[in-house]
Amino acid sequence: MTQPNKDIMVKIENVKKAFGPKQVLKGVNLEIPKGKCTVIIGGSGSGKSVLLKCILGLMEADSGHIYFDGKDTVGLKEKEHFEIMRRIGMCFQFGALFDSLTNWQNVGFGLIEQGKLSDKEIRDVAIEKLKMVGLDPYVADQKPADLSGGMRKRVAVARAICMEPEVIIYDEPTTGLDPITTDIIDEMVLKLQRELGITSIIITHDMKSAFKTADHMAMLYQGEIIAEGDAEFMKTTDNPYVRQFVEGSAEGPIGMPATDHRQ
Ligand SMILES: Nc1ncnc2c1ncn2[C@@H]1O[C@H](COP(=O)(O)OP(=O)(O)OP(=O)(O)O)[C@@H](O)[C@H]1O
Ligand SMILES: [Mg+2]
Repeated sequence: MTQPNKDIMVKIENVKKAFGPKQVLKGVNLEIPKGKCTVIIGGSGSGKSVLLKCILGLMEADSGHIYFDGKDTVGLKEKEHFEIMRRIGMCFQFGALFDSLTNWQNVGFGLIEQGKLSDKEIRDVAIEKLKMVGLDPYVADQKPADLSGGMRKRVAVARAICMEPEVIIYDEPTTGLDPITTDIIDEMVLKLQRELGITSIIITHDMKSAFKTADHMAMLYQGEIIAEGDAEFMKTTDNPYVRQFVEGSAEGPIGMPATDHRQ
């Protein structure tokens, strides 16, 4: 085995995943640098969520390796996998907040489950995290339903950073938000990046957000990384698939999803 590269947080090596006859990931290779923001773009059904679930260990790859901070996670026992998952904060697409809980209980959910701190202590930690994402302390005692969509996203991010993860994964963090709120969320992602030195992985269709936040970008197309580089490269590459996606054009090699990509 080659020596792990200390600057790489997650290394995905030739990962394949099929569901029955459908080969969803066809040998994905991607390196996610430590302390940087990596944005993964790609159309619906290209395998982004499947890849993300493989990184999180919610789904097992059929073959290949996923190294987390140099440690191969494929084939780990449940307990060891759990240890890795604790180092990752997940921010789900629709926030996945519990409506019946207050916002502080949502943010501090991981701490409540751990059972080490009192409610007051957890509420204090939650308020500190809410402040970090730009929300006032009064939000703590409200419930998700009392908040706007943009505020709910922030609560979801506060929850993701509550356990002080080394990596945070955002699945479509700005989908459904207006352009100004989108920009505010992008700014927050960048601020957390700077302040916490966290490794961020963002999955998005929003090219403006992608170019604003990305240190590194990769495009997934039909289960393969077809292009990667910094934002400038992705803006200027003449790869026709990237061009079409970035420009959001109906014209180009990416057509309507084919009914069958198998050979
Ligand atoms: N549990 C599963 N069982 C069977 N097929 C699945 C499963 N999960 C995903 N797939 C298939 O894998 C393909 C890729 O799905 P995935 O959810 O990763 O796409 P995506 O890139 O995240 O798309 P979107 O942008 O719409 O979220 C799809 O064709 C989907 O039907
Ligand atoms: Mg998805």
